[in-house]
Amino acid sequence: MDRALPSAAWCARIAGATLLLAAMLADAATPSELDTLKQRIAACTWCHGERGQGGRNDYNPRLEGQPEAYLYAQLKHYQRGTRAYPRMETMVRFLSDAYLHEIAQYFAALPPSGQAAGGVKVGAEVLARGRALALRGDAARGIAACAACHGRELSGVLPAAPGIAGQPYAYLSAQLGAWQSNTRRAAAPDCMAEIAQRLGGRDMQAVSAWLSTQPARAPQSPDAATREALSHCGAEVTP
Ligand code: HEC
Ligand code: HEC
Repeated sequence: MDRALPSAAWCARIAGATLLLAAMLADAATPSELDTLKQRIAACTWCHGERGQGGRNDYNPRLEGQPEAYLYAQLKHYQRGTRAYPRMETMVRFLSDAYLHEIAQYFAALPPSGQAAGGVKVGAEVLARGRALALRGDAARGIAACAACHGRELSGVLPAAPGIAGQPYAYLSAQLGAWQSNTRRAAAPDCMAEIAQRLGGRDMQAVSAWLSTQPARAPQSPDAATREALSHCGAEVTP
């Protein structure tokens, strides 16, 4: 009978082993966290491309090389409902801020593909109108050049203004439409909402078409002019 009862020494040994095991598991936390980040990313690249370059269909946006602070802000917008897209809302609903930062960091560090996305066929006149709006704006209607805030190459401006070149036509025109219909919002003053109100449907089509023909490149550092232009926006983009 006595022999069936574990001795005090045996119990202590078991307890010690359990503590050791717990300590080993805690030590192993780093690789397993990496694994989980990899799994999260795999869920994203299914739609956003292996290197974040977009693709799979003619709507999914590219994420690679976009400013980290911009990507993080967008993930928070889907969480809060200031951007509406059910699939993206579901993807990020239960992710912690720390995770969202890691994911944003991951995609921001990937090099832009240098590719255009396209996605629409329009005539040369429409493309010329789109290019003029993007690079010069339309002073008569109070529309600033897109390049004033999104950079000379429309590839974004650090720390947080997104690149708009190289996104698919359908995605770009949907974003402008969403600002016009108030289903996408950025912090006030929401300069994109104002711009979208001023652009008519034809100009939205023209500028989205031209931008989709431009290559995706890395964001530029701010100069004095972009700093000044971006200071009119409430989004946390002012360098
Ligand atoms: C089922 C396809 C799908 C999956 C999976 C998916 N996304 Fe998306 N994602 C989209 C689409 C489509 C949009 C554009 C939605 C819109 O119009 O607002 C988008 C938008 C985004 C944007 C905003 C891009 C921009 O330029 O503003 C970010 C950031 C993003 N996704 C990150 C992620 C991350 C991170 C994951 C994984 C946790 C993920 N997505 C998983 C389809 C997907
Ligand atoms: C005064 C500065 C300013 C000007 C001018 C401007 N933008 Fe923007 N734009 C922004 C900011 C800031 C954001 C990021 C908003 C956010 O955080 O959601 C943005 C975001 C966007 C997005 C969303 C990108 C994405 O990946 O979803 C599109 C599309 C866009 N702008 C198109 C345009 C076009 C087209 C023009 C020219 C007709 C233009 N913008 C002119 C400041 C500007």
